[in-house]
Amino acid sequence: MEINIGINKADRKAIADALAKVLADTYVLYQKTHAYHWNVTGPMFSSLHALFMTQYTELHDAADIIAERIRALGHFAPGSYTKYGKLSSISEDEEDAPAALDMVQGLVEGHETLTRTARSAFRPAEKAGDQPTMDLLAQRMEASEKAAWMLRSHLA
Ligand SMILES: [Fe+2]
Repeated sequence: MEINIGINKADRKAIADALAKVLADTYVLYQKTHAYHWNVTGPMFSSLHALFMTQYTELHDAADIIAERIRALGHFAPGSYTKYGKLSSISEDEEDAPAALDMVQGLVEGHETLTRTARSAFRPAEKAGDQPTMDLLAQRMEASEKAAWMLRSHLA
């Protein structure tokens, strides 16, 4: 059945494509943060192990909301690591366990990248008057900017 929510087909496609990139960044950063939760070592172990858990849990929950917004716009959400690797702008590590502060710096950069990807996705949503997507993206930018601040504070 045709979707009739006041956003035309081309705009819904453009928004869904932009959201797929936000989903891919979110998933890659989720996995990176979860692996750091497992593999962090050193005197900051306890605090970083806990902070990483808070942050990967938030990213995991966000992925569901982003994917379901893509569905509500009439498109399928990408769901494989192969696709996320192609769509994501977030770099992955060669090694499993970088030094603790390198992990922190890598996650700052990841959250900054995710924020920029979400900011880019705002444009097609704004053009189409898609307020729910704009609201979702604003929340994602706010969460990632806050996560980046908390991580960045370890590097001062
Ligand atoms: Fe755990």
